This record gives sequence, C-alpha cells and structure tokens, in this order.
Amino acid sequence: MTHSDRIETLLEENRTFPPSAEFVGQANLTDPQTYADANADPEGWWASWAEQLTWDEKWHTVSEWKPPYAKWFLGGKLNASVQCLDRHVDAGKGDQVAFHWEGEPGDRRTLTYADMLEGVGRVANGLKTLGIEKGDRVTLYMPMVPELAMAVLACSRIGAIFSVVFAGFSATSLKDRIQDQEAKLVICADGCWRRGKVLDLKTVVDEAVADCPSIKNVLLWRRGGELKTASNGISRDCEWSDMVETQDALCPPVLMDAEDPLFILYTSGTTGKPKGIVHTTGGYLTGALATTSLVFDLKPNEDVYWCTADIGWITGHSYIVFGPMAAGVTQVMYEGAPNHPKSDRFWELVERYKVSIFYTAPTAIRAFIKWGDEHPAAHDLSSLRLLGTVGEPINPEAWVWYHEHIGTEHCPIVDTWWQTETGGIMITPLPGITETIPGSAMKPFPGIEAKLLDEQGAEVVGAGGGYLVLSRPWPHMLRGLWNDPERYEETYWSRFPGFYFPGDGAKRDADGNLWILGRVDDVMNVSGHRLSTMEIESALVDHPAVAEAAVIGISHELKGQVPVGFVILRSSHESSPALAEELRKHVGTLIGGLARPEAIHFTPELPKTRSGKIMRRLLRDVAEGKHIGDTTTLADPGVLDGLRAEYEGNKG
Ligand code: WT7
Repeated sequence: MTHSDRIETLLEENRTFPPSAEFVGQANLTDPQTYADANADPEGWWASWAEQLTWDEKWHTVSEWKPPYAKWFLGGKLNASVQCLDRHVDAGKGDQVAFHWEGEPGDRRTLTYADMLEGVGRVANGLKTLGIEKGDRVTLYMPMVPELAMAVLACSRIGAIFSVVFAGFSATSLKDRIQDQEAKLVICADGCWRRGKVLDLKTVVDEAVADCPSIKNVLLWRRGGELKTASNGISRDCEWSDMVETQDALCPPVLMDAEDPLFILYTSGTTGKPKGIVHTTGGYLTGALATTSLVFDLKPNEDVYWCTADIGWITGHSYIVFGPMAAGVTQVMYEGAPNHPKSDRFWELVERYKVSIFYTAPTAIRAFIKWGDEHPAAHDLSSLRLLGTVGEPINPEAWVWYHEHIGTEHCPIVDTWWQTETGGIMITPLPGITETIPGSAMKPFPGIEAKLLDEQGAEVVGAGGGYLVLSRPWPHMLRGLWNDPERYEETYWSRFPGFYFPGDGAKRDADGNLWILGRVDDVMNVSGHRLSTMEIESALVDHPAVAEAAVIGISHELKGQVPVGFVILRSSHESSPALAEELRKHVGTLIGGLARPEAIHFTPELPKTRSGKIMRRLLRDVAEGKHIGDTTTLADPGVLDGLRAEYEGNKG
C-alpha cells in the first residue's frame, strides 16, 4: 500500500474508543482545559514540570530561543542521577523495587531504589578511578541488565556524557560511534542471552576498540552463567568485580548546568554517516518526567511499569531510565527474546509481576498476533490498566487486537509519536481525556505545537495532509548534532525555515486528529528502528563484487518495512544466490543484523535521472509490483523493463 492508499483506508476508520468512566475516575489528568492552558503559556507549563525535579540552584530564565538553538532553565543546576535515585531514597522510598529483572534463561533479580543508588555510587567511583571526568565521553555496549541503567546513571552522576550503542550493532558501527565522540572508556558486558544462545559482545568490542586510539580502558561486566570467559589479557581491560564492586557506595553527585550535555545517541539520517543527537540535562529530564506522568497516567507508588524497548534506543533512555526513574515507579526489565522459551514469555512476565502499564512497538504486536491468541489467553493479564505503542505507525487491525487480547477491552491505548531528536513523546492521546481511534496518534502533547505544511511551506489548515513540523521549541528537544552544527541546521531547519522538520508526513482529519504517515525521506523504519538507505548502500558498495547499489524499504507484514538492495556487479563477478547471501551478510557485519537486506536483486542498470540521481521511488514501484509512476525524468526509461523482468525472475 502506498502512503496515500494507507491514509485513505485509515481515514475511513470509524471505531472510536472513549476512555472508560472507570479509567477517568482514577486518572491523573481529566481536564481538557489543560491543553488550552499549556498552549497559552508554554513556558509556565514546562516550568511547572521542571519544579517537580530537585534543583540545587533554580533557573533564572525559563527559555531562550535563538533559532535553531534553544536553551531551557538557564542558570539552573541539578544532577540527573539525583532525580532518579537520591530523592526517592531520601523520601523514604529506598525499599521500593526499582527493577524486577529477569534473564532469558529464567534467572531473576530484584533491585530496590536503594540498591540502585548504591550500585550507581560504586560504578561512579570506579569511573573516577579510571580517570573519567566531567564532559568525558563514555560509550556503553551492554544488554538489558540493571547494570546498564546503573552505568548510564553513574556517568550522569559525575557529569560524563554517556552514549549507549545498541548491543545488536556491529563492531564497525560501534567503532564509528566511539571515534565520532572520541570516547575514553567503553563499558561493556562479556555477552548476553538471546533465543537460548549466548551472544559474545566482548569480541565485538575488542574488534571495534582496536581502531579507537581515544579509548583508554574497557570496563567489563560479566553476565555469568554459562558464558565462556571472554577474550582477555588486554592491558586496557578491567573487570567490574575489581574496579566497581570494591568501591565505596557513596559518590557525591556533580552539579550540572541545566544545559550541560547528558548524552549522545546516534540515529540514522539520509547520508551514510549516523548523526550524534545531543540532549542536555534540565530540559530533557523535565520532558521525560512530564510525558511519563501524563501519557502513562503513572502512579509511582502503585504501578508496575514495563517498557519492552532496549536502553540502546531513545525509548529506553526516556521511558526506562529517566522518565520512570525520575517518577520513582517500579519497573520490569527483561533480557531476552519475547518468544523464548515459548511465545507466551511476555504474558508470563506480565502475570508474574502484575504489570499495570505496558509499552511496546507495533512490530511486536504483529508478531504476537502471528504467534496466536492462545498465548496471552493462557495468562492472567488483569493487572494491566494502560497500553502504549511507539516506533512506527500502527495498523488499525493490530491496534484492535492489542485492545482485545492484551487490554481485554478495558485498557486505553496510547499511540505515541516522537523520535530520538524530540527526546520525549510529542503526539499522543492523554488517556484520561482523549477518545482514541485505532491508527491515529491524536493530538500534540500540551505545550507542543504541530503544523502541517504543503510542498511550498504554506500551512495546511483544517483537514488535509502535508509535512509534519513542530513550530515551537520544547524543553527536551535536541540541542544539536555532536560536532556537526551544519548538518543540524541543514537536516532539521532548512526545508521549512523557522520550523523543526522531523522527516514525517501526516494527515489531519476533520476532527483535528493527526495520522502519522511515516518518513518522507530516504530513511526507512525496520521493526520500529530507523535505518538509512544510504548507509546500507555504502555497506553494499564496500563489498569488492559491487560496483553500484540502491536500497529501498518495502512493506513487510511483521517488520513494517525491510531493506531490499538492487546491485550492479563489477564485470569480474557473476551473480549467484550465494553472492546475494554473502552481500546480505556483509551488510549485517558492517552495520548490524537489523540492516541486513531481505533480498538482493542483481541488475545491469539502475533507473537514474539525467543528472545521475537514483530514482528510488521507481525501484519501490517495481519491488511492490505497482504501476510505474511518472518516468519522464528518467534518463533511459528502458532500464525499468529490464529491472522488472529481473525482479520477477528473481522472485520466482
Ligand atoms: C521515527 C523516529 C520514538 C522512539 C522510537 C523510534 C516513526 C515513531 C511513531 C508512531 C508513527 C512513528 C516516525 C519517526 N515513529 N513513533 N507512534 N506513529 N510513526 O525512534 O528511531 O528516532 O524514529 O519513527 O517516522 O520519525 P527513532
């Protein structure tokens, strides 16, 4: 389905789900006037949320906007780890569980807020022993274990800028990120469990670090169990058991300026090089706390909250570490695959820990549907009271299944649109106020202003479609790209001067609800994760057999989209299924498994404009078996016939 087909189908969606009287009766926020009040005085609104954090020195100015650069809570001083730990322990909540953790093989740990504070103190003292100071960069490459959250918070405690790299990324991707940020230290695990197997992470780190002169040390946390002893004997390596566990648990927090960088998180753009998104301290935490509290209707002393994302993505930063921990709620964290040992693993966890709030991605929901209704049905899910989704547009059928089979028809569903750059949720229902419609992310969060613009940049008023833009700065917005101010201005602020352009298209229905269409640039969304066509093309061209490559994202039943490569071979190489497989693997090795193309098609030529630009739109038409659109700008229209024949042949 094309974007426009999809949206026409969506706009016919007439099932609406008003919040139940029961839910509204207990909701944190039920007054629709909140929207009008917040939008009449956004600074006052955000400041009221900032006041809920613990500041050592209050700000003197709420915000400053020198487009495209915003600052928030100027002059304010605070420490991020204090928000997430000390203030809860000081308030007598030290014994509250912070994490119910479960490893894939079934090992379990319970860590209270007091345990987390102690652990963070030890890691922070270990970092100091290793010479890490305020402003230094520390790269984290770890699986979903409480120590990852500890490491994140320990960096923030001493003012080091942390950068988590998802542990599914390749050595090359890890190396590129370490080099870009000139990190001094990598904190990693030796391995983790995934679908019953041990993934060796340490070898990946060794390979990456071999080419990173900025790295002084590698701090190794051991997952234990049946993991083999990881490669060792390297002098820069140090063990968590020596460097962390022997430390004092007390580590005074370093006071940070509200605008000091908190972390760098890389995400794909339209070029081959990932962008290092920079978030700062005060505004980011304000946004994380406000959105966690209201979007999830969070009751920090009662709820058991589970966000199934990995901390390696922004969702895990904002909605596992900083939002929920600043709020002080109990969470569930799980190491492994959702279908290990059986397809009911998630529902077993929901039942065991009595999860009340569950936040996952549409791609996961589509997998649950495929695995069968019997898996959730076999468990008591009555503890659930609210569900959320994030990462990509959710198809109404998946939404309704989620509502019926997981939410047992009584949980509101919040479909939350946002991105790495926005730091927190931007367009979403508020569960005690908003009537929801399957497939629509509904309304901008209070204080956020979204508009739709047409090709010329004119505002689309009322019902209609266009480019989604954000027209007013917000506290948790990115402050730029690490070491690359030009690309920051070019990527987000040049297409529509004066507006932040996230790269998505959207439609507004007659009632003013927003329907996100997905990316309008050369970026695809695979299982809720962002991948750049250019990055995958560079990886293909890196292979000695490849002369030229074009990559497109095509629709996929479970993953939303998957990459498909069109490849022109060098004359010295012959196409073969074995070579296609080798190229797929090559991309996996260079970027990570997520980027591995679903298929490789060999072709003698690619459709190009007269100026030599590859027309990916036409490749998509071929791959999706559609009527070919406008080809008048094509240098050689005959190329397409050959491509189509090749494509059809390959499929059969
Ligand atoms: C892109 C951001 C936000 C954390 C996970 C992904 C798409 C995200 C939705 C949604 C429709 C969505 C957009 C966005 N997206 N959430 N609820 N409905 N599309 O973060 O890797 O920064 O990707 O994901 O296209 O731009 P990310």
